[in-house]
Amino acid sequence: MRYLVIGSGGREHAIAWRLMQDGSAKEVYAAPGNGGIEPDFRADIAESDFAGIAAFCADKKIDMVIVGPEAPLVGGMVDYLEKQKIPVFGPAKKAALLEGSKLFAKRIMEKYGIPTARHLDFAGKLPLLEYIQQEKNFPLVIKLDGLAAGKGVGIPESREEAIHFINNTVADDAGVFVEEFIGGEEASVLCISDGTNIIPFVAAQDHKRIYDGDRGPNTGGMGAYAPAPVITAERLAQVSEKILQPTVDGMRNEGIPFRGILYAGLMVSGDEIKVLEYNVRFGDPEAQVIFPLMNGKLGDLFQAALSGTLDRTDLSFKKNMQAITVVIASGGYPGDYAKGELISGIDKVDGNIIVFHAGTKRIHDAYYTNGGRVLDITAVGDTLREAKDKVYQVIDRISFNGAYYRKDIGYRALK
Ligand SMILES: Nc1ncnc2c1ncn2[C@@H]1O[C@H](COP(=O)(O)OP(=O)(O)O)[C@@H](O)[C@H]1O
Ligand SMILES: [Mg+2]
Repeated sequence: MRYLVIGSGGREHAIAWRLMQDGSAKEVYAAPGNGGIEPDFRADIAESDFAGIAAFCADKKIDMVIVGPEAPLVGGMVDYLEKQKIPVFGPAKKAALLEGSKLFAKRIMEKYGIPTARHLDFAGKLPLLEYIQQEKNFPLVIKLDGLAAGKGVGIPESREEAIHFINNTVADDAGVFVEEFIGGEEASVLCISDGTNIIPFVAAQDHKRIYDGDRGPNTGGMGAYAPAPVITAERLAQVSEKILQPTVDGMRNEGIPFRGILYAGLMVSGDEIKVLEYNVRFGDPEAQVIFPLMNGKLGDLFQAALSGTLDRTDLSFKKNMQAITVVIASGGYPGDYAKGELISGIDKVDGNIIVFHAGTKRIHDAYYTNGGRVLDITAVGDTLREAKDKVYQVIDRISFNGAYYRKDIGYRALK
């Protein structure tokens, strides 16, 4: 099989790595890819250039396209390629609204009895400001409807903070809602769906904030580990039965079957597990810790999802193994940061460690930084402690000007 992976992050390198490593693929191309993809297999085509992607597929005789990030999914790349009879894994545009519109997701959850925080809709900035003027309970959560690259959610601790967030973020006519603040521990449970059946993956936990101890601004994710012990076997069954399956059933009932990766961002508090949001693709960096634990062929799983046969497909994960990934970021990220810094030492980590590239660029045989999150240093061990030690023992061998990483990835599970 010849695959084309769409996207340029660590997640996409991990998908390509897994497809090659488990024998699913003869060749994996990436568009636009990053420095981790061999130059001959990188195609300089933007994620938004659907026609360019289709032409590339015809040229290289691609057997299946895997769409990594949310933007092309929400933009309708799957519908476009399907029309051209190119097999493609990922949800259609309407199904991708589960991520593309937080209000749509709320409606689905409320209609189908999927546990989530209570919410109130507002038609734009002014009605929301009026509401906030008389609101007494803080913190509360303010969410913008559409894709906002992690910048569309505010959790003000006071009325002043709320007004500040609204004035800076909410346009006059924005779709926006207020949600009750719920406490607990966050985790992500992803599944693959063929539109009817689901198979859940091991739960993962991401670390969104830039600094140790979950302080500082939000990022795309600074590290992750799996399985996350907060999701016990019992809770995983609960998430499958009460959240993932009803979501897929609800979407089918709406006439919008969901075929792809459904990601539930969860808040766990005792017996209660509520959905904070859906994503419609693999998490980045969650994918980087799920794939190393997976048995079997990833390509077979994608194929089964496309042919509607996930009910006859087995998926298992390595027993008693844990995976961890630590993101090395550019200094200044998630604010301004430099690009083009020379990266040294990638070849100095041993075969026990998987180095997924994210924001890197290869020029001849050298690697340079090319984004906020640069590399994902990943290891598997019999325990999380062992996996974590493996990563942190070698991570300083890789360096570039301004390199920064969190030192506490996995701390919740190791407490
Ligand atoms: N109802 C809520 N109660 C408490 N925290 C929340 C709530 N909703 C979101 N959050 C926090 O805000 C973060 C971002 O919200 P999320 O819905 O995941 O949006 P996005 O990932 O699109 O920015 C979550 O990871 C969580 O930490
Ligand atoms: Mg989120």
